[in-house]
Amino acid sequence: MLELFPDTARVEDGELTIGGVRASALAEEYGTPLVVYCEETVRAAARSWRRGAPEATIVYGSKAFPNVPLMGVLAEEGIGADVSTLGELRVAQAAGVPAPLLVVHGNNKSDEELAAAAETDAWLVVMDEPGEVERCAAAGVKRVLLRITPGVEADTHEKIRTGHAGSKFGVAPEEASGIVERALAAGLELLGLHVHLGSQVAGSEATLSTIELLAELCKRMRDELDWTAAIVNAGGGLGIRYVPDEPAPPTPEEYARAVSERLYEAWSAADLPKPQLVFEPGRSLVGRAGVTLYRVGVVKRSGATTWVAVDGGMSDNPRPALYGARYSALLANRADEPSAGTFAVCGKHCESGDVLIESAELPEPRRGDLLAVAATGAYTLAMASNYNEVPRPAAVLVGSGRIATISERSGPAELAGFESG
Ligand code: LLP
Repeated sequence: MLELFPDTARVEDGELTIGGVRASALAEEYGTPLVVYCEETVRAAARSWRRGAPEATIVYGSKAFPNVPLMGVLAEEGIGADVSTLGELRVAQAAGVPAPLLVVHGNNKSDEELAAAAETDAWLVVMDEPGEVERCAAAGVKRVLLRITPGVEADTHEKIRTGHAGSKFGVAPEEASGIVERALAAGLELLGLHVHLGSQVAGSEATLSTIELLAELCKRMRDELDWTAAIVNAGGGLGIRYVPDEPAPPTPEEYARAVSERLYEAWSAADLPKPQLVFEPGRSLVGRAGVTLYRVGVVKRSGATTWVAVDGGMSDNPRPALYGARYSALLANRADEPSAGTFAVCGKHCESGDVLIESAELPEPRRGDLLAVAATGAYTLAMASNYNEVPRPAAVLVGSGRIATISERSGPAELAGFESG
């Protein structure tokens, strides 16, 4: 179970510690729910990506958790940012991500977003639809990629699959040549292609077969248009492990190595010049680094189920309700006690779908216990809401001998203010 938690997670004197700090001390000082990020785990994930593909450029899919201090840590590791809105762009800039490491996305970019990308001189803007050729040129965007929807179904939940035919993202391979021609005629520096097949993808097979498709497409375009892709952006998507009974996906190092080797082989077989490879990992950089601490309140039996209610729920982690996502938890203050059976962990929101874990093995939970949910670093706070006027949790970063608040809790008083009209 501890392997699902950050690298520095230990059980000491019966208590969960992260980065050498007791979970109970963090909960007392910062309140709950609290998302605790481990700096060492983030840095280790960044280095694993780098080891796997030392020549590739890695940009963080910042939608996983757009956060200034965390992106600052990633920038120190040489990791840039993929941003999909003006808000994410501003966070990346505030974190000090250099413009030559900024990739701008969006399936419906506003004029303001395109203008901001141009003004920032972001490295690349990824065009998602044919009409963006003229809009990018008019906004003064210089360097672009074209996002291809390869028609590949990645092994993940249908709501987070993006590379299938009919997706709202990108353009079909058949449309690519026409758009490339128009982009070149419009004076854009069209540097290459982008694909992103989906998120929480279990293995590397879908990406590897997409690389083969891209090599064929690039070969055709070289022959027909005399245009070659100098950059291939393979997107993000590598999954992480959330529950012990799930097979572990490849490590970033294994995945990055497999994809880069296949790319260089396919390009060389097609007699194309070696392109610059880009990856956009989100979840695999920050997911396992985050742990959510909740305080247990009501423990109640209902039929065959024993419900354990915590002081957050679908407002701070909507993933179980949205994607049927599974999570693992332990009692942080009694982490060495044996399991007393299975318990259903629910939140405090006014609906039956507010279930975080359907079946968690725990010691007999009691009011006041501290529940630690593993692998909540990606797409939890980023997707949090104030449903039922519940505050969005705070986040702290533990590491380098210090604890820093990296995201503030938004208090109920402030929420009342927002609604006052
Ligand atoms: N690049 C692009 C163009 C993307 O759209 C995404 C994620 C990424 C990179 C990063 O993907 P990652 O490495 O994190 O899988 N809310 C969903 C996930 C949505 C992913 C959106 N795009 C969830 O909670 O599972």
